[in-house]
Amino acid sequence: MTIPVREFAHRRQALIEQMASESIAILPAAPERTRNRDVHYPFRQDSDFQYLTGFEEADAVLVLIPGREHGESVLFCRERDPEKERWDGFLVGPEGAVERYGFDDAFPIDDIDEILPGMIEGKSRVYYSMGLDAQFDAHVMEWINVIRSKVRSGAQPPGEFIALEHFLHDMRLYKSAAEIKVMEQAARISAEAHCRAMQICRPGMFEYQLEAELVHGFMRHGSRAPAYPSIVGGGDNACILHYIDNNQPLKDGDLVLIDAGCELENYASDITRTFPVNGKFSPEQKAIYEIVLASQAAAIDAVRPGNHWNQPHEAAVKVLCQGLIDLGILKGTLDEVLETESYKSYYMHRTGHWLGMDVHDVGDYKVGGAWRVLEPGMVLTVEPGLYISPNAEEVDPRWRGIGIRIEDDVTVTRDGCRVLTDGVPKTVEAIEALMAGA
Ligand code: GLY
Ligand code: MN
Ligand code: MN
Repeated sequence: MTIPVREFAHRRQALIEQMASESIAILPAAPERTRNRDVHYPFRQDSDFQYLTGFEEADAVLVLIPGREHGESVLFCRERDPEKERWDGFLVGPEGAVERYGFDDAFPIDDIDEILPGMIEGKSRVYYSMGLDAQFDAHVMEWINVIRSKVRSGAQPPGEFIALEHFLHDMRLYKSAAEIKVMEQAARISAEAHCRAMQICRPGMFEYQLEAELVHGFMRHGSRAPAYPSIVGGGDNACILHYIDNNQPLKDGDLVLIDAGCELENYASDITRTFPVNGKFSPEQKAIYEIVLASQAAAIDAVRPGNHWNQPHEAAVKVLCQGLIDLGILKGTLDEVLETESYKSYYMHRTGHWLGMDVHDVGDYKVGGAWRVLEPGMVLTVEPGLYISPNAEEVDPRWRGIGIRIEDDVTVTRDGCRVLTDGVPKTVEAIEALMAGA
């Protein structure tokens, strides 16, 4: 694991320092989910839990108690069990959790109903992310009700629930050097896989064959899964923003849009490239492509400390609009197009999102009603696009069915930003050269 154990301990400490006295935080691991009968979906740890623990098992609960004499950071987890481990693999167990993961104290998860109400009792505040897991919400209320049932014996139930995610998600927004290192590696793996997909692409192949190449590229470098379902959309399918059927043949003369990124050690990468199936852009495809590419350059240029969250989007929109006006696809002046938002027929999404453990990562985009100011350590995507529907009857037929997005992952640095995903080409010339050399 690239993130050192001590970094998880520091994160828990940093959260404890933000908590009020006489309080407790409760955070469950992700549940295992059944796919059918004896088969589970591949387990993926809850990002908040992972961020604070580095602990990869289900059936665990992290409890933080500022000022607790026997240690502030407590884990409930499965006990070791040779018979079970013979079938399902190694379990860390409470002792291992203390020794190897740096928790102050650990107990068997089967004892949580006996132990946790006593830990909550007397605390005035409970930090908990309500509403994410109805089953666990019910457990929390059961533990509170155990205390409430004993008020006549002097027990004191907590008076306040506080949203834990508010504190945690602000911490997750600022990536440490170790986190950036993992994200760089994830970006490198994804970039290499996109290059391979460009190189093997031929008319007549199916979209899923490019998807297979991407997944192969991810897993051969240690990624266990894509960070989100891969989009491989040939021709008109590129105009469907969340197209994941990936089951159509790729046609000579069409473009193909690939939006795919690996997840590595619980960190996402997120790359989109659009390229010609036969290796050569048509004049119409090239014209639209150059507009999207220029808008992405303008947006990336606006990613720097001191600029606010929306500035890259505003920069991208201006370039896209001017480009569409110049081609005669949009009518009116730039100001009119921006004012009426007529461009939204062809550009209907935002220019990016935070990136981290979740592909659409946590962190507020506005603070106190104003767009958030960019700061070093934040990681975001820059992903403008243009999508001219095959049914866009108001547009000259030669432009219809062209869908293009270009997406890179960038980290804000002290004096600007750094593109993590520049290992995959994006100029017309560089894409055509890579595909021609294949
Ligand atoms: N692949 C999801 C996104 O680009 O936001
Ligand atoms: Mn994407
Ligand atoms: Mn994205």
